Amino acid sequence: MIEKGNPDVRLRRLRRSETIRRLVNETDLQASRLVAPIFVRFGTNVVEPIEAMPGVHRYSVDQLGGYVNRLWEAGVRAVLLFGIPESKDELGTQAYSSDGLVPRATAEIKSRFPSMAVAADVCLCEYTSHGHCGVLKGGEVDNDKTLPLLAKAAVEYARAGADIVAPSAMMDRQVAAIRTALDDSGLPETIVMGYSAKFASSFYGPFREAAGSTPSFGDRRAYQMNGANSREAMREIEGDVGEGADVIMVKPALPYLDVIAEARSRFDLPIAAYNVSGEYSMIKAASLNGWLDERRAAMEVLTSIRRAGADIIITYFAEQAANWLKETS
Ligand code: PBG
Repeated sequence: MIEKGNPDVRLRRLRRSETIRRLVNETDLQASRLVAPIFVRFGTNVVEPIEAMPGVHRYSVDQLGGYVNRLWEAGVRAVLLFGIPESKDELGTQAYSSDGLVPRATAEIKSRFPSMAVAADVCLCEYTSHGHCGVLKGGEVDNDKTLPLLAKAAVEYARAGADIVAPSAMMDRQVAAIRTALDDSGLPETIVMGYSAKFASSFYGPFREAAGSTPSFGDRRAYQMNGANSREAMREIEGDVGEGADVIMVKPALPYLDVIAEARSRFDLPIAAYNVSGEYSMIKAASLNGWLDERRAAMEVLTSIRRAGADIIITYFAEQAANWLKETS
């Protein structure tokens, strides 16, 4: 066998020109694998920049069309919706209201771009006054009281036309509750993408500014995962698979590439990875300071997530990345 170090082996031969490098390129990125998160807010005629996420905006429903059109033109074929309601309450009522922001945004997008896949995040944190992902009982998030509310939200989003519902609350058995409710409501075609291995992460910071969903007390470590635990992540994924998830997710992506790779080797379901707000903002901040080349850094990160084994990448770079991919194709 020829080993590295043998005088006959010269690996640089395969790197000499762009053409040759592309010929032997192992990991392809395609715009069709990207999902663009969208923040939908109350009001009309609003396009509002998010300070901690340069280039990302909150849109009122009537203003979504322009952005979704840009995504479509760039080649992005899927969006993930988050709602930011005018009023929040203890029970997160706006999350499962049939005329809530996510159902309205879904209907709007589907009527104008029927082939755009619409995914809807299913969680209470953007809708509760306390900012936790479920309802409270004695200062704790009550798992089983939260499940029917998540299920109701998922059914409302699916009824409005969402192709995919994506529970992110990290409640035990949330996928089962949602799958059963969808099936019982005559919505067996709706895809469930579980945020299966969602870690309690500092990298959600900018999102919480964007969605106004910072918990008013405590943190999320009693339901989101400990970042030190990879074996437990496999148990979470296994659980979601058993409960009927169609797609599993690892989130965040970059600090958990090993978890993506491990999941890839163990499971045959499609794997989504969420390149979260903090992962986006750190590249933006450094590049705005002239410390990093934004395009190269972003594409390197997205390629690494794909190389680790993700089929689907949820990223705030979706529009830019899709346009960069067009330029190089
Ligand atoms: C919960 C949810 C969060 C994100 C996606 N879904 C926030 C959280 O858990 O605090 C974070 C996404 C990001 O940081 O980009 N609804």
